[in-house]
Amino acid sequence: MDILQTKDLTKYYGEEPLVVKALDGITLQIEQGSFTAIVGTSGSGKSTLLHMLGAWIRLQGEALW
Ligand SMILES: Nc1ncnc2c1ncn2[C@@H]1O[C@H](COP(=O)(O)OP(=O)(O)O)[C@@H](O)[C@H]1O
Ligand SMILES: [Mg+2]
Repeated sequence: MDILQTKDLTKYYGEEPLVVKALDGITLQIEQGSFTAIVGTSGSGKSTLLHMLGAWIRLQGEALW
């Protein structure tokens, strides 16, 4: 069972004409009980993704508890 899924997740910083597409269509599934590593070169969006997933998990927690 997946505990977390994203579909076409995007995060852009800034405004035109200086938009930085930190995440540009991330689709992933994370299986319950699995260990998942996010790897990539510096600036590829790892921290942005973790911040977004963390914010989502906090919102879920507030909704459930
Ligand atoms: N607050 C921000 N404002 C503007 N650009 C940002 C901001 N945070 C990150 N970025 C840009 O988004 C891209 C992804 O950054 P980041 O998620 O920190 O990557 P990583 O953690 O993989 O090094 C980089 O081009 C970075 O410069
Ligand atoms: Mg980082």
